[in-house]
Amino acid sequence: MKFFIDTANIEHIEEAQNLGILDGVTTNPSLMAKEGITGRVNILNHYKNICEIVDGDVSAEVIATDFKNMIKEGEELASIHNQIVVKLPMIKDGVKAAKYFSNTGIKTNLTLVFSPGQALLAAKAGATYVSPFLGRLDDISIDGLNIISEIREIYDNYNFETQILAASIRHTMHIIDCAKIGADVITSPLSSIVGLLNHPLTGIGLD
Ligand code: G3P
Repeated sequence: MKFFIDTANIEHIEEAQNLGILDGVTTNPSLMAKEGITGRVNILNHYKNICEIVDGDVSAEVIATDFKNMIKEGEELASIHNQIVVKLPMIKDGVKAAKYFSNTGIKTNLTLVFSPGQALLAAKAGATYVSPFLGRLDDISIDGLNIISEIREIYDNYNFETQILAASIRHTMHIIDCAKIGADVITSPLSSIVGLLNHPLTGIGLD
């Protein structure tokens, strides 16, 4: 299972990278704003800096919600660095844009996915990644892990190559459960990743 970090915070990205377990990064406009990164040029530069720290894929999200502007924005993002994955929302034009990019060899991540049907469309469009939001489903009393299991079953039935990227991870048990049900990737805040280190018996043994 690949470990991505879900942040635009450079210190957190560097810490995960230095731990030697990082396979990529996911970001979104809200995470950028949280770090005080605003304005087109600053955002593009920040993505470039992130790509220079990590070896793997870096998801960069479009803001447009119509096909034409998603393509324009996605192409600009993809031109920053060959590690950039264009992150698109799970709406009709997002699916169309994922298909367009899959035909042109640009990697995509279909985000804001909350159902197996949406994930099926993402795979049919040739998305590189599909991002079901585990925590946000749990927040509304829908079993997010079950949705990911259903997506796993559907993808395995047809050997779809789209990778299941479990997002909206809130704690260490989400990561362990995703590993048990065969998610291809988890994207998580640093706290949940380093939280996996903790066991009282390790500390006692060390003492
Ligand atoms: O990758 C998507 C993720 O950022 C959403 O997480 O915690 O806002 O539900 P959260």
